[in-house]
Amino acid sequence: MKIEVIDLKKRFEDEKLELLSRIKKVLKKGNLVLTEELKNFENSICKFTGSKFCLGLNSGTDALMMSLWALGIKKGDEVITSPISFIASISSIIHVGAKPVLVDVNDDLNLNTDLIEKAITKKTKAIMPVHWTGRMCDMDRVVKIAKQYNLKIIEDAAQGMGSYYKKKHAGRFSDIAAFSTHPLKNLNGLGDGGFIITDKKFLYKKIKLLRNHGLKSRDNVEIFGVNSRLDSLNAEVLKFRLSKLNKVISKRQSNIDLYKKYIKTKKIKIIGENKFKINSNVMFIVLSEKRESLQKYLQKFNIQTLVYYKNPLYAHKASKFLNVDKKKFPVANKLAKKVLALPHHQYLKKNEIIFVCKKINQFFKS
Ligand SMILES: Cc1ncc(COP(=O)(O)O)c(C=O)c1O
Repeated sequence: MKIEVIDLKKRFEDEKLELLSRIKKVLKKGNLVLTEELKNFENSICKFTGSKFCLGLNSGTDALMMSLWALGIKKGDEVITSPISFIASISSIIHVGAKPVLVDVNDDLNLNTDLIEKAITKKTKAIMPVHWTGRMCDMDRVVKIAKQYNLKIIEDAAQGMGSYYKKKHAGRFSDIAAFSTHPLKNLNGLGDGGFIITDKKFLYKKIKLLRNHGLKSRDNVEIFGVNSRLDSLNAEVLKFRLSKLNKVISKRQSNIDLYKKYIKTKKIKIIGENKFKINSNVMFIVLSEKRESLQKYLQKFNIQTLVYYKNPLYAHKASKFLNVDKKKFPVANKLAKKVLALPHHQYLKKNEIIFVCKKINQFFKS
């Protein structure tokens, strides 16, 4: 028996009949791009999040890039974001020609909003908070700073589907927000995918053109765009899975509550939650002493753990040209050595979680 962090095989077993019948229905129609399945999915996201507009795209990375592009962020501009994230948070900024400016995080792995103002220069155009693991950033503060300095906000809500801050859904605090439907997210498709939400019609209209080669109509290219359309099969599957999202999140929350109850060692720190926030629990990351040895030990009992990530974004070879002084990131440097994702998916059984906890406790006792 292997206990995995996320188990997509189990998800398929659970949903097989419904999934295959939906796939068959779409395939039978013989039309797989920009169809009513996509429109229906986008409408259901608007309903779920409360946003006016949604556009399905090829990935969360595209959603970030196209948000920046549509906002006119370009060469010479700076965007403030977090070093504890997936590389797409900064590569999207670099791809539109702008410069990512990183500020350190808090112990909850999210942007330390006290440090944002010091990082603002004449070139700063936007702030990109990342809701890492599904835990929302302090959005009141981000919104306040953005207003004061006349900056745009692009939420990297790749992990934010089902997350709330003061009862408002992730992505509702900004000009535009980017989500991912990568297989490892809790609203996940059959492969890569993503979407944006916005209340701004001009951004919606621009990205609608950009995602489809800038085509106004079949024979009419208005601007140069790209191909970044969420396909109809994915849209159909995602719409179906959206109806199950709240259940997935609450099951994962019960799993995390079990971890809180059964982990008895102080060498594992479970990051606390703030009462204003609902965490979508895309990942369950704890802070572990002796991380590498613990991983090896758990592996012996077929317990998978994963590290997201060993390197803060400034520590990659590709980021060298940004000339970031690593000493300015004491918290990110410290956390990168400790972060560890434990199995928490919605098909885990109580006895499996208790088993993982037992093995963790044993490791630190011996
Ligand atoms: C915080 C964050 N931003 C951006 C992305 C990019 O999304 P995608 O993998 O769909 O391109 C991810 C996905 O892993 C992510 O976790």
